[in-house]
Amino acid sequence: MSGEGKVVCVTGASGYVASWLVKLLLERGYTVKGTLRNLNDPNQILHLKALNGADERLHLLQADLLEDGSFDSVVDGCEGVFHTASPVLFSTTHPQAELIQPAVQGTLNVLRSCSKVTSVRRVVVTASIASVTFNKKTKGPDVVIDETWFSDPVFCEESQQWYALSKTLAERAAWKFAEENGIDLVVMNPGFMSGPMLQPTLNVTSAIFLDLAKGKEVFPLYHFVDVRDVSYAHIMAFEILRLAADTVLSKDNKCTEDPTHEVSKKKAESLGINFMAMEVSFKDTVESFKEKTFSLYKNQSEWQM
Ligand SMILES: NC(=O)c1ccc[n+]([C@@H]2O[C@H](COP(=O)([O-])OP(=O)(O)OC[C@H]3O[C@@H](n4cnc5c(N)ncnc54)[C@H](OP(=O)(O)O)[C@@H]3O)[C@@H](O)[C@H]2O)c1
Repeated sequence: MSGEGKVVCVTGASGYVASWLVKLLLERGYTVKGTLRNLNDPNQILHLKALNGADERLHLLQADLLEDGSFDSVVDGCEGVFHTASPVLFSTTHPQAELIQPAVQGTLNVLRSCSKVTSVRRVVVTASIASVTFNKKTKGPDVVIDETWFSDPVFCEESQQWYALSKTLAERAAWKFAEENGIDLVVMNPGFMSGPMLQPTLNVTSAIFLDLAKGKEVFPLYHFVDVRDVSYAHIMAFEILRLAADTVLSKDNKCTEDPTHEVSKKKAESLGINFMAMEVSFKDTVESFKEKTFSLYKNQSEWQM
């Protein structure tokens, strides 16, 4: 399926996932309106401008999740909107301001803009496996978690899982708004992503992966999925799914397999996703760190180039 002649929007275009999504969309012929908070930061824009097709079909525009109406003019004329922008932070002393507000208000802000225009045919929101698995439901080797599951906000709050709370509340708000306003919504629930970075600076999850590659202790990581598979699945979710449906994307990591539960891959596989072998994904991730000169032996303070 070609994207020629179609205009789509990617929020938070310079992020780890979004950069891959923009690349794949441009390769498929789409015209992409990518939003950024700061159009003057070379670290955010140069890798995007260097993509094939960017000169002709990539338009970078300023928009902020917390600014009402910020996305109105951006989504106007777009057939599809990929809302990936959301803060990724696993440690914070200000969860409301740093995570929950931008995730929830930002999602509603983008959806509100979509509901004001007639061009938008479908919205694909990047949620997370974190908005699915954090609850008190019994898990066991025979339990398969799928897209029908939801994390429990009370459980997230009690266990101070602020990122999971932000993604859970944002996903819930998205479903509610979409239902009330007749928006065709697809929610993606990817696992922890590995795979090469296109952007020059370390995003939070790649930084954790770098720690893992250095042999440092990190919190248990399960259900890896390659960033390229996730980006491709976003496009398939826009192009293929006829009905609003949510999609769990995940891949068990053979190195740190979680014995307590399995995660369904059915929805993702129904989109034609042929998951990349984790060995390949991990190898490519480490190669990407080397290429960008993030030494595997440096301290955290030396990460930024
Ligand atoms: N990486 C993973 O393993 C993983 C797994 C599951 C789901 N996800 C989801 O995937 C999406 C992208 O994550 P990522 O890993 O690619 O992280 P990332 O590289 O940090 O990208 C996050 C993006 O969100 C933007 N953003 C944050 N706060 C914003 C605000 N107030 N206004 C406008 N933009 C804002 C950031 O823009 P700035 O650069 O301006 O801050 C950045 O472009 C997120 O929704 C995340 O929850 C990620």
